[in-house]
Amino acid sequence: MKKLKLNQLARKDQDLIIAARKAADNAYAPYSGFAVGAAARTTDGTIYVGSNLENAAYGLGLCAEVSALTAANTSGDYDRIEAIAIVGFGFSPRMQVSEVVAPCGRCRQLISESAQLSSIDIEVFACSGDLKSIEQYAISELLPHAFGPQSLQLSNPPKPLSVSLAPVDGGEPPQRSLIDGSDAGQVLRG
Ligand code: THU
Repeated sequence: MKKLKLNQLARKDQDLIIAARKAADNAYAPYSGFAVGAAARTTDGTIYVGSNLENAAYGLGLCAEVSALTAANTSGDYDRIEAIAIVGFGFSPRMQVSEVVAPCGRCRQLISESAQLSSIDIEVFACSGDLKSIEQYAISELLPHAFGPQSLQLSNPPKPLSVSLAPVDGGEPPQRSLIDGSDAGQVLRG
């Protein structure tokens, strides 16, 4: 772990942390009064952001890291993450901006899976709300001896087969394009 100040970091890491800080402003966290933002960067520099999303049914709440990683996955980038920043602060009943926020256990597991897919020991920047305190970790440091795809002998987890999109004009139904060709040309009917 390294304790750092924002201006000691590379520009791209500063940008990542600022993106996470901005995402925290969109947190929906009326129950905890604690806003969290996360920003995940891929190897090609794309940044996905997320904020925590709570619910009146308390147990349904989602962490900011879940939101950011889900956004990355939705764009096909869950296996290309190289760094993630997390910024959190209390805003109700009082402001509390000076404590560093590290990812919860579940989020460490989700980051770890991404790291195992890419073989990148993802950098995790845990930041205070005022960005005055930053701790830099590798995910292997935050979650050593992790359970992952390798534990299930899935070194190369399968992805869904691609399915061509239905034409918008109501023409031909979608064809399934198959990677292994076992049932090539099979028509999927809705
Ligand atoms: N939270 C996150 O978004 N990420 C974490 O890693 C820790 C906790 C959120 C969940 C909840 O909405 C609020 O912070 C208080 O626990």
